[in-house]
Amino acid sequence: MQQTQSGAPPLDASGPCYNELAQRLAALAEGEDDVVALMATLACEVHHSDSRFDWTGFYRVVAPDLLKIGPYQGGHGCLDIPFSKGVCGAAARTGQAQIVADVDAFPGHIACASTTRSELVLPVWNKAGDLIAVFDIDSNQPDAFNRDDAVRLQAILNSTFAK
Ligand code: SME
Repeated sequence: MQQTQSGAPPLDASGPCYNELAQRLAALAEGEDDVVALMATLACEVHHSDSRFDWTGFYRVVAPDLLKIGPYQGGHGCLDIPFSKGVCGAAARTGQAQIVADVDAFPGHIACASTTRSELVLPVWNKAGDLIAVFDIDSNQPDAFNRDDAVRLQAILNSTFAK
């Protein structure tokens, strides 16, 4: 990403500086292995890194085929999501990133906030390769997420939870 002469990201930046975000998170997570502490820290840092992000947080795998709310930033989220439901369920079921440009066009989308227009959900694995959660970012802007967001955030998740 471009830097201004002062080293700060430009004000019209189109997204977070993922290198900077990854470095900050690596420093904050250094020596920490408590998963909830890591999730809370990551949700906070990512949420405040970009104005596109209106709800940012984790749904944890707590039983076969069941997700439960984890650390997040934003308005309250629904507490339970079965793997069979919503965008989060699709990410958990398939182990694939879900980039949803228009949540109204996604069959079974769970509307926790009526303002949400688009969404990115990524799988979260631990070092053993078990799916432990999904990471959900909702935006009030339509079509807010792209492939670069998915790839860069997935790399941050992998280096935080599968290290
Ligand atoms: N939109 C999600 C549900 C979680 S909330 O938006 C916080 C979904 O359909 O999976």
